[in-house]
Amino acid sequence: MTEIATMDKITSLAKRRGFVFQSSEIYGGQNGAWDYGPMGIELKNRIAAAWWKEMTQLHDDIVGLDAAILMHPRTWEASGHVENFTDPLVDCKKCNARFRADQIPEENLAAKKCPECGGELTDTRKFNLMFKTHIGPAEDSASIIYLRPETAQGIYVNYKNIIQSNRMKIPFGIAQIGKAFRNEIVTKNFIFRTCEFEQMEMQFFVKPGTDEEWFNEWRNRRWAYYEKLGVKMDHLRWHQHGPDELAHYAKDAYDIEYLFPMGWRELEGVHNRTDYDLSRHTQYSGKDMQYIDQDNNNERYIPYIIETSAGLTRNLLMILCDAYDEEQVAEKGSADDWRTVLRFHPSLAPITVAVLPLMKKDGLAEMAQDIRRELKEDFSTDYDQGGAIGRRYRRQDEAGTPFCVTVDYQSKEDNTVTLRFRDSMEQVRVPRAELAIRLRQEIKAYKRKV
Ligand code: GAP
Repeated sequence: MTEIATMDKITSLAKRRGFVFQSSEIYGGQNGAWDYGPMGIELKNRIAAAWWKEMTQLHDDIVGLDAAILMHPRTWEASGHVENFTDPLVDCKKCNARFRADQIPEENLAAKKCPECGGELTDTRKFNLMFKTHIGPAEDSASIIYLRPETAQGIYVNYKNIIQSNRMKIPFGIAQIGKAFRNEIVTKNFIFRTCEFEQMEMQFFVKPGTDEEWFNEWRNRRWAYYEKLGVKMDHLRWHQHGPDELAHYAKDAYDIEYLFPMGWRELEGVHNRTDYDLSRHTQYSGKDMQYIDQDNNNERYIPYIIETSAGLTRNLLMILCDAYDEEQVAEKGSADDWRTVLRFHPSLAPITVAVLPLMKKDGLAEMAQDIRRELKEDFSTDYDQGGAIGRRYRRQDEAGTPFCVTVDYQSKEDNTVTLRFRDSMEQVRVPRAELAIRLRQEIKAYKRKV
């Protein structure tokens, strides 16, 4: 129910439940940066793990890499980022507001009129999005270094190392998850567009001429991935880049867009980067970046690259929006009894199972703690004995915990517990000894119905 998942509600729930906090909040906050709390880091790790499994474990021809954020500055000249990675910027001379020229109404731009106060706008100028700093003690032009604006280049400069060390043969891919930094002019909509963020990128090296086929193949695979993750598929669509939108390196590009509360926005890009990057690195480094096909008379060529590039932190926002639901709880018989529930896929939920004793007394708490100890080896668990059981269920619903195990007086008699399902709120009685197996089955078979 996207219409109820406003960004304000998502932001406030994320803070209340420890998913995401404003960076440096006690100093008034740092624009463009966010901190991931106890629930947020668990969710982020699980989204990253799902992507990593999909891209490496399930593909024999893709290997992983973790390259440094700081790279030789020539990298960014070769990649074209020093010259081309810019946004058009205008400032208001009266109220000092700053805008991306391509994001304000055309009539304002033409009339040089501030959309906020009506004051005069400056001429449009190009603004490079790379963060620049210095390495070493001297702050001169020789010590300039950049925070990487994409993880991709770390893969390109290592592609020959990986062929040699891991005996990879084309077609093959290299996957990487890591931080990227962009000095974004406009950061709004919570964690959607930030200056510090994480990317999950995979670069697939193919023989020229086969690139279009692989491009389509990767579009299909990335679409199927979100389907498998249980995302609402009617909230996803493709957007092909027009000639004005294509990045300087791309021959063709499609975005997977998600229907966020503020509208359709890019979630992930699939790009045909041609041989642009490797050719430029050949030119700037003087190193031969050609592939030698030993199975084909040592044929030499610069591979084409098909890139799939997803934001990890943007995926987290998508998963939060997608999971968010408010539901009138019918079984209570009260017309105004609502619950907020995060319907995470169980494999992504920060807490998989919460163990709750009906009462603290009569040995129920001890038994519940004992069950939690048994489960925590295999599952991410929580324990809660505070307050009425209904309120405790609501707390777990709001945290997106798919399963609650309740220990009651019958548990003491026959060693069974109640297993409660978050989505349906149904409860079944399960022998304690079968709990772990049952949970594993439920996770594997999970299909979102609401
Ligand atoms: N290597 C190609 C590349 O970086 P991109 O379209 O600029 O392509 C890829 O970025 C993905 O990274 C986007 O689809 C988005 O999910 C994420 N992303 C880009 N800029 C971001 C930002 N400022 N904040 C959060 N995520 C961002």
